[in-house]
Amino acid sequence: MTAPSATRPLLHFAPEQNWMNDPNGLVFHKGRYHLFYQCNPEGVVHANLSWGHASSTDLIDWEHHPVAIRDDEAGQIFSGSVVVDVGNTSGLGTTDDPALVALYTQAAQNPNRQSQALAYSIDDGLTWTKYAGNPVLDRGTSDFRDPKVFRYDGPAGAYWVMVAVEAVDRQAMLYRSDDLINWTFLSAFGPQRAVDGVWECPDLFPLAVEGDPGDVRWVLLISLNPGGIAGGSGTQYFIGDFDGVTFAADDDATGDAIDWLDFGRDCYAGVTFDALAQADRTLIAWMSNWDYVGSLHAADGTLRHPMMTLPRRLSLVSRDGSLRLRQQPVSVQLADERVLEDIPVAGSRVVFEEIPDAGRISVRIDVLGAAGFALRLRFDGADEGVVMLTYDADARQLSVGRTDGNVAIHDDFPGSQMMPVAGGNLIDLEIWLDRASIEVFADGGTRVLTDLLAPQHGRALAVEGVGGQVHIERIAVADAVG
Ligand code: FRU
Repeated sequence: MTAPSATRPLLHFAPEQNWMNDPNGLVFHKGRYHLFYQCNPEGVVHANLSWGHASSTDLIDWEHHPVAIRDDEAGQIFSGSVVVDVGNTSGLGTTDDPALVALYTQAAQNPNRQSQALAYSIDDGLTWTKYAGNPVLDRGTSDFRDPKVFRYDGPAGAYWVMVAVEAVDRQAMLYRSDDLINWTFLSAFGPQRAVDGVWECPDLFPLAVEGDPGDVRWVLLISLNPGGIAGGSGTQYFIGDFDGVTFAADDDATGDAIDWLDFGRDCYAGVTFDALAQADRTLIAWMSNWDYVGSLHAADGTLRHPMMTLPRRLSLVSRDGSLRLRQQPVSVQLADERVLEDIPVAGSRVVFEEIPDAGRISVRIDVLGAAGFALRLRFDGADEGVVMLTYDADARQLSVGRTDGNVAIHDDFPGSQMMPVAGGNLIDLEIWLDRASIEVFADGGTRVLTDLLAPQHGRALAVEGVGGQVHIERIAVADAVG
C-alpha cells in the first residue's frame, strides 16, 4: 500500500509503504547518504520493528532498498546507528574494504530486556549479518536503548564511543570500545533539565563555533517523550565538553533554561550522519509525535504522512551571550522564485493567490509600531484549512496554529505552538512547506518549529497587520525541485 498522494511529501523522505518512526544508522559511505529507519515490514502500526533502508546522493532523491535488518526471535530491532569501521577494528571486514557496522537495540519481550546488538554489512549496506555473539552489551535492564556510536580521537586516545540511554532513569550512558564488540563503561550523564518523559535517541558530536573553527564544543541531543516543549515528543540539547570519558554541560547563563532543538509538535528522535566532515554535520528527525501518531490513518487504513524532516545542517552560533544550535535546510533546489517588495499592509492582504505544494516562503517584515503580524495560508474549500503564523511583537513570540482541515485527525492535533524569537522590528522568516508539513526557521535558524499539517490543496498566502500597519520589505515564494 502506498501512502495517499494528497499527503505524500514531494521533498521529504517518506517510505514506500507501512509504518515508520525514528531515523537510524545515518551514515555517509562511498558518496551515498544511507538512511535506515524504524519500520514495520508488515503493516501500518508500531510492531515487528526492523530497519528499513534508503540511500541518496543528495539527501532529497531517495532510492528505496529492501528491509535491511529484520526482527527475529531474539527481539525487535529498535533504534541505533551505523559506523564505517575504518581500520577494520572489528575484524568483520577487511582493511581495504571495511565493514559497515550497526549497533542497535535488541528489544526482547517476556521478560522485557533491552540490550545492544551488532550487525555488519560487507556489501555497502544492502545486506546485513547479525553478529553471532549478540548481544554485545547487556546491563540486564529493560529500558537501555538507542546506541549512537562515533569515533573519538582526542587527548584521551582513539577509540569508539557509544552513547545510549537508560530511558526511564533519564540518563545518557557512555561506553568505549576498541573493536565495536567489547564495551567498557565510561560515565553517565543526567537526569538534567527536561526530565518529564523518558530519554531516548541520544547523539553526541563535536561542532565548531561559526567564524571560529578552532573553537570546538560538544553537543548532546536528548529526545524525550512526553515532556517536549510543544507537548508529547520533543528534543532538548546540551552544549558542553567531552573529554573522552565524561560529558559536562555548560552552565546556562539563565540558570536551568532548557535548549529545545525544535518548538513544534513534530520533530523527534533526530540524529546526525556519521562519516561526514565536522562542518557538514547533518541531522534528520522523524516528523511526528507519539501523542497522536497512532491516529494518523487515512480512511483507507494507510498511515498518513510517515515522513522525516528536511535534512538540516548544524552549526553553533553566539546569541545573547551564549551558544545556540543553528539548523539550516540543505540540498533543496529551488526554481521560479516570485518576489514582491515594499508593500504596506494595514488590514489583510493576499500577496500570492497560489503558492507551491512544496517550496520555500521567505519573509522580511518591518512591524513598525504595530502589535505584530499574521501570515495566513488559506486552502481551497474555506476557513477550516487555515494555517496561521502570528508574530507578537510585545511577547517576542512566533506561533503556528494548525487545524484538522476537513478530516478529523485526533483531538490533540489542532492547536498552536509557540516559539520565542529575538524580536525587534525587522522579522526574517524562512518557511518550508511540503503538502502536509511546515518547518519554520527564525533567528537565522536558531529557532525552528516543525509541524505536520492536515492534508490540503490549493493554497493562497495572505499577510495581515495586527494592531496597525506593517511593512513587507520582501516576500518570496519558490518551488522546490524534487
Ligand atoms: C523513539 C523510540 C526509541 C526506540 C524506538 C522503537 O521514538 O521509542 O527509543 O528505540 O522508538 O521503535
